[in-house]
Amino acid sequence: MLTAIVTVETTENQQDLIINRPTSGLSLQGRISVPGDKSISHRALMFGAIAQGETQIQGLLLGEDPRSTASCFRALGAEISELNTELVQVKGIGLGQLQEPVDVLNAGNSGTTIRLMLGLLASHPERFFAVTGDSSLRSRPMSRVVKPLQQMGAAIWGRQESTLAPLAIQGQNLNPIHYNSPIASAQVKSCILLAGLMTEGKTTVTEPALSRDHSERMLKAFGAELSVDPETNSVTISGPAQLHGQKVIVPGDISSAAFWLVAGAIVPGSELLIENVGVNPTRTGILEALAMMGANIQLENERTVAGEPVADLRVRSSSLNSCTIAGDLIPRMIDEIPILAVAAVFAQGTTVIRDAAELRVKESDRITTMATQLNRMGASVTELPDGLEITGGTSLTGTDVDSYTDHRITMSLAIAALNATGTTTIHGAEAAAISYPNFIPTLKQLCSQS
Ligand code: S3P
Repeated sequence: MLTAIVTVETTENQQDLIINRPTSGLSLQGRISVPGDKSISHRALMFGAIAQGETQIQGLLLGEDPRSTASCFRALGAEISELNTELVQVKGIGLGQLQEPVDVLNAGNSGTTIRLMLGLLASHPERFFAVTGDSSLRSRPMSRVVKPLQQMGAAIWGRQESTLAPLAIQGQNLNPIHYNSPIASAQVKSCILLAGLMTEGKTTVTEPALSRDHSERMLKAFGAELSVDPETNSVTISGPAQLHGQKVIVPGDISSAAFWLVAGAIVPGSELLIENVGVNPTRTGILEALAMMGANIQLENERTVAGEPVADLRVRSSSLNSCTIAGDLIPRMIDEIPILAVAAVFAQGTTVIRDAAELRVKESDRITTMATQLNRMGASVTELPDGLEITGGTSLTGTDVDSYTDHRITMSLAIAALNATGTTTIHGAEAAAISYPNFIPTLKQLCSQS
């Protein structure tokens, strides 16, 4: 069998990932594991910081995003040990005890860090906080959390009528609300629930479709009084709450596994076993979408670990058909749509993705970035206002493409390159470290084994 040559060139502050595929014979084989779930890692650090007693975290994601959360919460007074995958200890300072930091809190590239943290900061009376992030985060909408927090009585100021970071927050005693969120967003839901932790009374969030429920599961495990109404997609938290430190075991991130699921499906002759992947039903839309396309994916060794469902995922290559994805499925696979677009390029027929306008306000405008970069490689992708239309079956040719410093775009394009003839160069590939620091070494390992 032939190997694909994967190299990295570092120039000043930027990395180029260069993938040179052999003309034929590449297949991916083996058993791999993916890093810890990003959403669960953020929450374990944050909830540990505001709980009483010690929280122990096993399997934390060592990506840039959780590092941003850890540094913000250290600045807010929590003692967090050095980050590693074996064991991170968080000495909680107790609810309502976050300290006024001496400097601006920097959430880096991480929407989850800034939005969830805002709920906590806004509900800490008599303390003043300033929060910011990198250029991508400073262009992402904050009104989705600022508005409901202001309805609770929060005092928040920022650029463009408090819709963009940097933001300044004067903590207040807040009032409980019932918030009908216009978007299905776990970041919005979690922000309000966290503000509700410190707020006397019942705070409820209703969302139009169910988004990931890691906050609900983990807040309950930490001792919060929280109820869920699945009929109306509503969650209610009773404040003031008391959280107690827990042991958290972070499963592998299905959003990272998705790259290998698609790689295994589209590279002929491949078989990959991805071990220890979180398969929380609010995150498994990608499995359903790939099944609709005819992918051969099996869940093995299904189990529950620390309150989260986990399985090993086996993928074998197969021919794929197009599919249509829209509606309630979208929030359950929002981060996997870029890699699903890659699968669609190699499927027969036209795949239509709708109801996914949220992609326009992620780390990059993922509708435009995926359409333009895949088309540079020879794909047939049309942008829709709220999604993509992808006609599969065209062959891709390696060329220069840009990650727009978006981690999921980098990794999606790298998987597309495995099925493109010639050499693909992805500029800005250092972005992969946001959620998957070992992505390039794992890609190299799989390509050199084949
Ligand atoms: C996340 C929620 C999602 C997702 C993000 C992580 C979370 O964002 O895109 O990567 O951890 O709550 P939205 O909730 O805004 O859709």
